[in-house]
Amino acid sequence: MKKTILSGSTVTGDLTLGNYIGAIHNWKQLQDQYDCLYFLADLHALTTTQDPSVLKNRIYSFFAQYLALGLDPKKNVIFVQSHVHEHTELNWILTCLTPMGYLNRMTQFKEKAEKNIKNINAGLFTYPVLMAADILLYQADLVPVGEDQRQHLELCRDIVGFFERAYQKDIFKMPEAHIGKVGARIMSLQDPLKKMSKSDDNEKNFVSIIEDPKKIEKKIKSAATDSGTEIQFDEENKPGVSNLLTLYSALTGRTISELEQAYVGKMYGHLKVDLAEVVIETLKPVRAQYDDLIKNQDYLDELMKSGAERAQARAQKTLAQVYQAIGLVARKN
Ligand code: TYM
Repeated sequence: MKKTILSGSTVTGDLTLGNYIGAIHNWKQLQDQYDCLYFLADLHALTTTQDPSVLKNRIYSFFAQYLALGLDPKKNVIFVQSHVHEHTELNWILTCLTPMGYLNRMTQFKEKAEKNIKNINAGLFTYPVLMAADILLYQADLVPVGEDQRQHLELCRDIVGFFERAYQKDIFKMPEAHIGKVGARIMSLQDPLKKMSKSDDNEKNFVSIIEDPKKIEKKIKSAATDSGTEIQFDEENKPGVSNLLTLYSALTGRTISELEQAYVGKMYGHLKVDLAEVVIETLKPVRAQYDDLIKNQDYLDELMKSGAERAQARAQKTLAQVYQAIGLVARKN
């Protein structure tokens, strides 16, 4: 039996190099050996108020971006979270088992609350519980994510324990985070002390995977570098250059020390010119594929439908077991 993998991305902005390198690149590599489910977390996007028409377009756009990045709808179950209502149903049950103290500790909640001071809603607070429902519904063994999601995965594991203790039933599989060795935390281009984020207000901080090559070149060339001139990996003293080296290494497979060797005696500018080319060449086929897919909404609708049907068949089974375990009466047909 193949192990089950599940992961997703919240539908805000466009996917960035951070999402690609930290997560989706790994998803792609896992699709041959595992039973994989990849979804678009559209409900998670609602913790900030969305413009409905923008959100709608973005859901199609994200679906096309997943496919353009190489996720194969035949090998994987690819679906939209809101198309499988079992996510929100399990979410409620798990919310009733999760102590507020555990949610209070979530660093992402603290960061997001600081950023959205005018809209610190309850959804922002309980967001990690919905994430746990996403994972546990499919009995996932492994969850490939970037470093920033590690704490949420740990909470998910705690929630499995809360359920077992409350109901003495061992229904959920204990999931594990799968975090890559290189690129698990790609940093912002202008401020390499913070994470690259697709919802960043300053678009110079990230490169989106469907960005225009000229813009990519400009953004990489104007990335913040550090004092000194040597091209060396040193996250503490040279966070800017280290981030560029990480990007380079993750996209080419060349090791950091190989790159350091290759750039001995060269300037930051050389590294940036070469990296811009690597990024542009990597993303060129992605963009071409995306441009084709996004024109064909009927095709995307069809794939969304079949993905949701396959996902729901599995989600229903888990939810039925949970309802039975906690004493809810099944509706008679
Ligand atoms: P999201 O949309 O913020 O990010 C999607 C994936 O990309 C990774 N990532 C990064 N990796 C490296 N460097 C970065 N700068 C960077 N930025 C993002 C994230 O770690 C993530 O793996 N809550 C999740 C979506 C979600 C989910 C789930 C994930 C909802 N339910 C269940 C796994 C399982 C999120 O907002 O990811």
